[in-house]
Amino acid sequence: MHFIEGISNFEGQTVNLKGWIANKRSGKGLFFIVLRDGTGFIQCIVDQNSVDEATFNNATKIGLESSVEIEGQVVKDERQIGGFEIQVSKLNIYQVAEEYPIAKKEHGVDFLMDKRHLWLRSKKQWATMRVRNKVIYNIHRFFQKNGFMQMDSPIFTGNAAEGSTTLFETDFYGEQAYLAQTGQLYGEAMAMALGRIYTFGPTFRAEKSKTRRHLSEFWMIEPEMAFYDAKMNMDLIESFIKSVVKRTIEECKTELETLDRDTSLLQKLTETSFPRMSYTDAVAIIKGEKDVEGRNAIKLLEEDLGQVKQEITDKEAEIEEREAKINAGGMKKGEVNFNRNKIDTLKAEIKELKEKEENIPQWLESARNFQFGEDFGGSDETVLTRLFEVPIMVYNWPKKIKAFYMKEVDDDPDFVQGVDVLAPEGFGEIVGGSVREEDKEKLIAQIKVHDLPMEAFEWYLDLRKYGSVPHAGFGLGLERLICWICNTKHIRESIPFPRMYGRLFP
Ligand code: 4AD
Ligand code: MG
Repeated sequence: MHFIEGISNFEGQTVNLKGWIANKRSGKGLFFIVLRDGTGFIQCIVDQNSVDEATFNNATKIGLESSVEIEGQVVKDERQIGGFEIQVSKLNIYQVAEEYPIAKKEHGVDFLMDKRHLWLRSKKQWATMRVRNKVIYNIHRFFQKNGFMQMDSPIFTGNAAEGSTTLFETDFYGEQAYLAQTGQLYGEAMAMALGRIYTFGPTFRAEKSKTRRHLSEFWMIEPEMAFYDAKMNMDLIESFIKSVVKRTIEECKTELETLDRDTSLLQKLTETSFPRMSYTDAVAIIKGEKDVEGRNAIKLLEEDLGQVKQEITDKEAEIEEREAKINAGGMKKGEVNFNRNKIDTLKAEIKELKEKEENIPQWLESARNFQFGEDFGGSDETVLTRLFEVPIMVYNWPKKIKAFYMKEVDDDPDFVQGVDVLAPEGFGEIVGGSVREEDKEKLIAQIKVHDLPMEAFEWYLDLRKYGSVPHAGFGLGLERLICWICNTKHIRESIPFPRMYGRLFP
């Protein structure tokens, strides 16, 4: 048995492939089949003149997603995806599939989500899952190479850590328990035992809203480091993101091409240092009161809006032109199809632009009205990151809006040493982290302010009794990172079976 990935090593040879029919077209005495085997896609040609009758009959019978075994010769063909095709000599059937519900034409996302177990087979989903795999591998690689110990934190927990409004409650042998919102508190305990650790596990947030960035179940990577301060924490975040993105875009060229991901900005990121700014400066930028290198966030967005409107007008004109040409008649069938496809693409682009046309004025409005001391919403993040091509780090946040465990800024007790990393291109927060409060009394005071049950934190307070040290860490949302790398607009497509408000099946 051979695999499509790596088929270039078998040029001129006969191979045996097993997979599913992703597409089938027929010509005179010919079938053009696109076979997928999980590792890739390849065109296979069944020519009536060069196969036995049984094989040709089999090729006639099979439709989308039928499962088959194909034997044939690997032939170079530059025009094909991957540069090779298969001249089939034999085709056996595992199963002739029933009529496949996900046909070629456009389906709505809800329908596709209901059929997620099948949708995963389609090309873009396949590519995204392959990127996800590499991202996970590269995350482990980075930490393992840099002396971090992986640890598993519990899923059943007795205490809240990231605010009581997003807790999933569950029953643990009659005791009240919660699904972990974070592994951090346990990570802190392990850092005191092992020095530098990271967790990589599922975390749960009951977010009763449908946004394109929130899952109820998502995977988080949480390093925790004894003796790290705010700067060391930010330096680590930066080299970590750079390393993972760099390796992933190198190793996933085909996948990112399949996703039409323009990687020029991602490529730039390794040579650029991530801008770091305080919350206070970030707010001034959002409100248009502070420029960055002569550029103003509000003005830029106003210009964007003008450009969006122009693009819509241009694209609408192009559609009209192409439609007129088709209607005038006399075009060859291939040319008509080409123009129809072009029109469909233009329509999809206009739809996206119209969304922007609607959104930008709202973003501007909420940026102008931003109140100092508030947390950033998705739109504030978009306004702020519009000025940058690489992720930015915002540090020193108002104490009131951040978690109980964050350490105060030395000479400014209204602020804490938290840091958020915001990705460019509208993707927003991908990392949240901080220096942790190491003083027992201050921590007790914060637990009270946040109205958390003291008993549940006794063990955590022990860490501040027995050899308390400065320490810091952060959490990266795996799916948020994947969305940014793949340019996936909605987080539900970055995980095999998303769990979110309104979706538990399949
Ligand atoms: O900012 P958060 O809530 O921070 C923590 O949980 C800390 N305990 C991390 C730490 O310091 N060890 O979450 C961290 C990251 C966010 O930046 C975001 O990328 C992701 O987790 N995240 C979500 N991803 C998908 N769906 C959700 N509902 C998410 N909530 C947070
Ligand atoms: Mg956060």
